[in-house]
Order: sequence, then structure tokens, then C-alpha cells
Amino acid sequence: MERGNFGTKIGVILATAGSAVGLGNIWRFPYMTGQNGGAAFILIYILCVIMFGIPGMVSEFIVGRHGAANAARAYKIIGGHKAWALVGIVGAITSMIILGFYAVVAGWCMQYLFASIFGGINGDAAYVAEYFKTFSSDAIKPTLWGITFILLTHLVVQNGVRNGIEKVSNLLMPCLFILLIIIVIAACLQPGAEKGIEFLLKPDFSKLNRNIFLEALGQAFFSLSLGTACLCTYASYFSRQTNLMKSAAQIAGIDTIVAILAGLMIFPAAFSVGVNPDCGPSLIFITLPNVFQQAFGGVHIIGYIIAILFYALLVLAALTSTISMHEIGTAFFFEELSRKKKGIFSHMNVSRKGGAWIESIICIIICIFCSLSMGGVKNLTLFNMSILDFCDFFTAQILLPLGAFVTCILVGWYVPKKVIRDEFTNWGTIRSTLFDIYLFAVRFICPICIIAIELYQTGLLK
Ligand code: TRP
Repeated sequence: MERGNFGTKIGVILATAGSAVGLGNIWRFPYMTGQNGGAAFILIYILCVIMFGIPGMVSEFIVGRHGAANAARAYKIIGGHKAWALVGIVGAITSMIILGFYAVVAGWCMQYLFASIFGGINGDAAYVAEYFKTFSSDAIKPTLWGITFILLTHLVVQNGVRNGIEKVSNLLMPCLFILLIIIVIAACLQPGAEKGIEFLLKPDFSKLNRNIFLEALGQAFFSLSLGTACLCTYASYFSRQTNLMKSAAQIAGIDTIVAILAGLMIFPAAFSVGVNPDCGPSLIFITLPNVFQQAFGGVHIIGYIIAILFYALLVLAALTSTISMHEIGTAFFFEELSRKKKGIFSHMNVSRKGGAWIESIICIIICIFCSLSMGGVKNLTLFNMSILDFCDFFTAQILLPLGAFVTCILVGWYVPKKVIRDEFTNWGTIRSTLFDIYLFAVRFICPICIIAIELYQTGLLK
């Protein structure tokens, strides 16, 4: 069976950074920063990325590259026992659930892209709020957008690692940076924008408390794509020359810069029109369309163009992320169901395209339920939450931390140190000055931090 791989160094970085950069940076990070008082939150967030995000990424990279196989098999190989495959399987399931609800939000972004082109979201504040409510609770439209988004992802992934994922990432990521820079400049040139910049860059330490610390930790998790074997799957396509530590640091750096730039495009514009930044998850769908109209209202065409660019940016960022989630399952189904010699699937011979279809169909079913639960079908709830909210909660707060915790325990305590050191130093060919620090982080800091998040979120540590 022929396995794909990434062709170039820059392809590795852009594809993996594409996975990390997504709605987590442009939607979740700004609203969390807004709710948690700005710069102080960002400072803690950066600390979390360095202290436990990067070591976590390196660990998943090690598992993936060592196994050179789909997540389930990679965990089995490095752990030396069948049972470890469960970590990869749970990771693949988690990523299907995430893709299911992520596609719904990405679909909303597509709708907003078209609505901003055709003028559908022009109107006063009440109109924009009503527009979002009516649209997201519709039974058909948002569901179709979500399915479209998964099919778009499918189209890229089925073409393989080098011809699909790497090619598209190499094209989309530069576009994403250019769009981001244009919007940031336009936003920061607004009169009164200084207040927004100050909010983001001048920490107010009176806002610091333990909650901020733990929320920043959770955000770092989601934003770096940690905990679902996503990075492990991508790393299985890395070459033996890829410097794992350096790549993790570069990708975490890009991810953090994009998150801060997203803040720099939203807050200066919001402050310049006097909009409160702490309005939560509806920030980009309800608050921002208003901000665009008012802030650039003097010259209508600029507001119009900026709004289009902004939603195009969201769609691109979301697509490179959904591709990475899709690839976990695709690789799994393809490699596990093709030409097996024994077992119940022995008669099957699934191609890569077939694997991608199995993944897409499962995700589309989850997506339909998530989308309908926003109001299209009444009482579609689980534990008093809409299915979409439940999937978000269940993955981000339970399955992701669990996946990363188990990975840290496996890499830090079970796998022979020599294997880890070999992977870390590319078999002794690169310096290993940071190795001891890395190992300490993986053995102690990461597991303890993750336990802390869990205790906090289940209310045991309040
Ligand atoms: N990191 C992406 C974002 O910020 C989302 C994402 C992609 C993800 N792959 C993942 C989150 C795997 C968790 C696990 O939007």
C-alpha cells in the first residue's frame, strides 16, 4: 500500500499551520479575549502555548512519525500493545464529531460571505441580530451549507496528501495572510482605533484570576489542534529530516500571531464605533457586520469590501482546518480496511477515495443533527444543550484533554527514552539541548495542567 507524504518543508509547515489556524483563531480567540479583559488574557495564553502546547505538539508528532501510519496504528506501534490503538480510534471519532459541528459554523461563514456580497446583511443592529437568528434556526439552508462544506473538504482530501492537502494549503495559506494583513491595516487606520489596540496590547493585571488561566489553557488546546491525533496523522507524512521541535515552535508561533492579528482586526474597528468587545460567541455574526457598516460607513464601498474579505478569510481558514480533521478518518478507513488478511473486514478493499467517502458520510450525518438542533427541529437536545453545543462541549472539554493527557503519559512514561530521543534529535543528527526540558514538560507539566483544566471544568476546582 502506497503511503503519501509531504513533498517540501514549507508544505509541512503550511499544511500543519493550516490545521491550527481556523475558526479557533478568528472566532473563538477574539471573543474569549474580549470576555476576559484583553492583553492580560493574551499573555497567559502565550504562556500556555509555550509551556504545554508545544510539548504536546511534539509528542503527537513523535507518535505519528514513528508509526508512519494512521493514528490507531501509530499509537499501537509506539505503545507496543494493541490497546494503545484505542487512543487513535477515540481521536478519529472525536475529529468526526468536531468536523460535524465545525462544518455548521463554517457553513454560516459561507452564507455570510454570500450575504455580504449581495448586501443581505445591510441594515441596523436589530436587523443584523434578527438575520442571524432567522438564518441559523432555518431547517434547510444552514444544513445545506454545512454539507457543502464537508463535500468541499472531501474534494481536497480525496486527492491525497501531496496533490490535495499540500497543494491547497500552499495556495490558501498565503491568501489567508494577505487578507488578514489588509483587514488589520484597514481596521487600525480607523479613527479611535488606538483604544482597541491598547486593549489588546496593554495588560491590565487587575483582571487576572485563576479562571483566565484555565480558559487560556483550553483555548490553546483547541487552537493548536491538540488531542485528537490530528497532528499525529499529519506527522505520519513528515520526512525523517523534519525537525519536530522546530516545526512545533514555528506552527505554534504562526497560530498565535494569527490569533493576535485577528484581535487586531476586530477590536480596533469595534472600539472605533463604540461597540462593547465582551459580547461572546455572536461577536463575528452579529456584532461585526454592524461594525463593518459603521466603521467604514463614510466610504460605503470600503466597508462592503472589508466585510467580503473578512468572511472569505474565515472560509479559507476553516477549510484548511476541516481538511486536517477529515484526513484523520480518511487515513484510518483507507489503511485499516484495505486488503486486510483476517478479521470481519477481510473481504473489503477500500481505496483512499472510499475511505474519504466513509468519513464524509459519517460527518454529514453528525452535521445534519448539529445544524437542525439550532432551531430547525424543536427539542433536538442532549443534556439540555442543542446537539451542536453538546458536541462542542463534549469534544473540547472532555475528549481533547483526555487524548492529550493519555498521549503525554504514553510518550513521557511508557515509550523507551531512546525512541523519544531518536525522534526528537532525528537520530542524533540535530542538537538536543531542549530534550530534557521537553521530557520534563511532557512528564509533569502537561499532565498536571490537563488535570487542572478538567477539575476546573467539572466544577471540582472552583
Ligand atoms: N485548530 C483549529 C482551529 O483553531 C481547529 C482544529 C483543526 C482542531 N483540527 C483540530 C481542533 C483537531 C481540535 C482537534 O480552528
